[in-house]
Amino acid sequence: MKRVVILISGGGSNMVRLVESMTGDHPARPVLVIANSAGAGGLARAADLGVPTAVVDHRPHKGDRPAFEAELIRVIDAAAPDILCLAGFMRVLTEGFTARYAGRMLNIHPSLLPKYRGLDTHARAIAAADTEAGCTVHEVTAELDGGPILGQARVPLRADDTPATLAARVLEQEHRLYPMVLRRFAEGDRSRLDLTTA
Ligand code: GAR
Repeated sequence: MKRVVILISGGGSNMVRLVESMTGDHPARPVLVIANSAGAGGLARAADLGVPTAVVDHRPHKGDRPAFEAELIRVIDAAAPDILCLAGFMRVLTEGFTARYAGRMLNIHPSLLPKYRGLDTHARAIAAADTEAGCTVHEVTAELDGGPILGQARVPLRADDTPATLAARVLEQEHRLYPMVLRRFAEGDRSRLDLTTA
């Protein structure tokens, strides 16, 4: 059974979907959810699902990313994960961190990468008058939102969309895509998955 550690910063809706997916004949199980803030709403949701949780607060290490990551690594490695899932984890990671978990760390990003790396993806897609938007699950490398793409889900972008309405439509697809990609990844399948919705 593959051991999965999930990193979150916020409400953790993607984390919940990942945890809920890992049952039955799924080849992986969640062993730990880590948040970089004790205020992350997802911590209580993980605990409700029976998954151990930990907090590694980035704030005491302000301006010293390697020191924050050293603490994060200590907590992650104590859980001996085979796979790390970033699920709304909003800290930029150093090359040392990404190299340590190369080939076993996934991220979900709310755009059709390579478009719109970084923040404010939905506002940028609307400003560009794109006709479609979506989300991407990719392997994490040193390049921000730049690793090999494992799956994408596309949704139509409507003329009256606001960042909030688009985010809600994309989030539904995140919840569909991420569990599917994680399962395939845990089974050793790194081929790309493409989902489309009308
Ligand atoms: C999700 O939309 C995820 O794609 C995004 O944060 C949200 C977290 O929601 N991630 C990023 O922007 C990463 N750069 P959740 O906490 O409800 O899963």
